[in-house]
Amino acid sequence: MTDRDLEVRLLTACAVLREAGHLARDYFIKREQLAVEHKGVQDLVSIADREVEGLIRTRLATAFPDDGLLGEEHGGDDGGEAGRSAGGLWVIDPIDGTANFLRGMPYWSVALAYLVDGRTEIGVTYDPVHDDLFWARRGAGAYRNERAIRVSERTDPKQAVLGSTYTFKMAVADYVRLIEGILRAGADHRRMGSTALMMCHVADGRLDGCLTLYCSSWDVIGGLLLVQEAGGAASDFLDGATLTQPNRAFGCAPGLCAAVEALTGLKARS
Ligand code: IPD
Ligand code: CA
Ligand code: CA
Repeated sequence: MTDRDLEVRLLTACAVLREAGHLARDYFIKREQLAVEHKGVQDLVSIADREVEGLIRTRLATAFPDDGLLGEEHGGDDGGEAGRSAGGLWVIDPIDGTANFLRGMPYWSVALAYLVDGRTEIGVTYDPVHDDLFWARRGAGAYRNERAIRVSERTDPKQAVLGSTYTFKMAVADYVRLIEGILRAGADHRRMGSTALMMCHVADGRLDGCLTLYCSSWDVIGGLLLVQEAGGAASDFLDGATLTQPNRAFGCAPGLCAAVEALTGLKARS
């Protein structure tokens, strides 16, 4: 895969996510007409998720017929053993923050990442409500629309605000322990409801970190690259999991890395 191949994919990913985000926003405006289905406890889905993923898949398959596709709603390639098989693979979360989306709360995103041989090369996340397109290419920095972004410079947990996530698929006690640890360290916390967007907000310094004890690859894999490219520390999702297995993850300001490692039991990618 050449530099030019990756550049073309980045530009395409940005255009596709804007189009997909506008489709999602159209559904958001008329969300009261959507039939809501329950995939599990507090785990919702509607036609909006499926149609947005369908649009992304169609556009990517047309532009790059040899690339693999893995999406939350339609499945697909798992990237092979530990997600490290040769060739390029797109990982899609059509709407991250569906619970917010269906309640009319404006904190959700459309997330896409591109991996080559199990390494994330491109991460793009779009917040259509605020028209914020977050994008990063490995080695080329992180951006919100046209503007380069940086993680925060905070080093003191007592001045930090950390994002967290919860799903009823994990033990309540583990989440309670995490929140207790955050509070005992003197940090404040937010559970905004879209892990992908929280990672972007770590990358642009609004949050000082985002910690999750249970997430899927499509929730975080692009966001972890965004945090790293914005000067932050991040865990390696594929260390100890495949692309289709849940894992822990974090992204944070470098000055808070030791504290966040202690809270999550993870190490930053070296
Ligand atoms: C959810 C969001 C949320 C997290 C949940 C995820 P979805 O994704 O990332 O922040 O707490 O565990 O399921 O279901 O809206 O794509
Ligand atoms: Ca998600
Ligand atoms: Ca989703």
